[in-house]
Amino acid sequence: MAVLQPHPTTTLLPEREFHFTQANFDRVRELIYQHAGISLAPVKQDMVYSRLARRLRALRLSSFEDYLARLEAGDGQEWETFVNSLTTNLTAFFREAHHFEILNKQLREQRHRPLRIWCSAASTGEEPYSLAMTACEAFDTLTPPVEIVASDIDTNVLATARAGVYTMDRVERMTPARLQRFFLKGKGAQTGHARVRPELQRLVTFTRVNLLDARWPVHGPLDALFCRNVMIYFDKPTQYQILKKFVPLLRDDGFLYAGHSESFLHAADLFRSLGRTVYERADRHPTGGRTLK
Ligand SMILES: C[S@@+](CC[C@H](N)C(=O)[O-])C[C@H]1O[C@@H](n2cnc3c(N)ncnc32)[C@H](O)[C@@H]1O
Repeated sequence: MAVLQPHPTTTLLPEREFHFTQANFDRVRELIYQHAGISLAPVKQDMVYSRLARRLRALRLSSFEDYLARLEAGDGQEWETFVNSLTTNLTAFFREAHHFEILNKQLREQRHRPLRIWCSAASTGEEPYSLAMTACEAFDTLTPPVEIVASDIDTNVLATARAGVYTMDRVERMTPARLQRFFLKGKGAQTGHARVRPELQRLVTFTRVNLLDARWPVHGPLDALFCRNVMIYFDKPTQYQILKKFVPLLRDDGFLYAGHSESFLHAADLFRSLGRTVYERADRHPTGGRTLK
């Protein structure tokens, strides 16, 4: 039996409803990189196929060529759906809990003035609402003088975040005290769900921001900037450009919070690590920085 030699641009991936060639996959990778900065690993072929095959069905298209042509013709609505389809939105309430303990301390120390926080990859809202709960706890009130701007590139997750309704399995790992203080348990048709209290929602403003855009609708000065578990999808030059734009937004004594597997050592001229994936501006205290202990 003859052995088929794969060709880099024409290889068909396993038998599927739609032909999905290596060239199609490479084009998708280019487009999402240019548009959202996301570097999709070569092993993501199956994921890309299954997420975009849904779009082909919904649009009644018969090939990836037709789908890509439609995108490249500039269909704005489909661009939004394309990006929404390819983001990874994994998140949780109080994810990487030590950051919220550090933030609590930071807010208590600076409680003499109103504070501003930007949550720049907010996903479905668990992170900004955890920030809001931390602010309420630090000030011991449901109306702390804290403003939280929460943004994401993905309009679907932002809609979920704005609604503030979660299934019980997403909220159950929080302490009963937090659940009682910050959530309303659903009844009737809403059984099995919990809704974030309106007081908490009032602390958070949601808006769409693509971190790759030249201009952001978010102004400083910020006391804290949460940019967690999104930089891992970007290459180092893209990360550096974003970090450079963070610097003037962050207060001199503000903190940048990164995800557990993210390191900004390649941008040491911009941000200095304080340990525990928390950073301060490198131009602060040239003779020695703070510690988090
Ligand atoms: C894995 S989630 C992290 C959520 C949250 N920060 C956390 O740590 O739990 C990554 C989020 O980054 C968003 N994202 C990806 N590319 C982005 C971009 N270019 N600009 C803004 N957000 C982006 C995705 O839509 C997704 O919701």
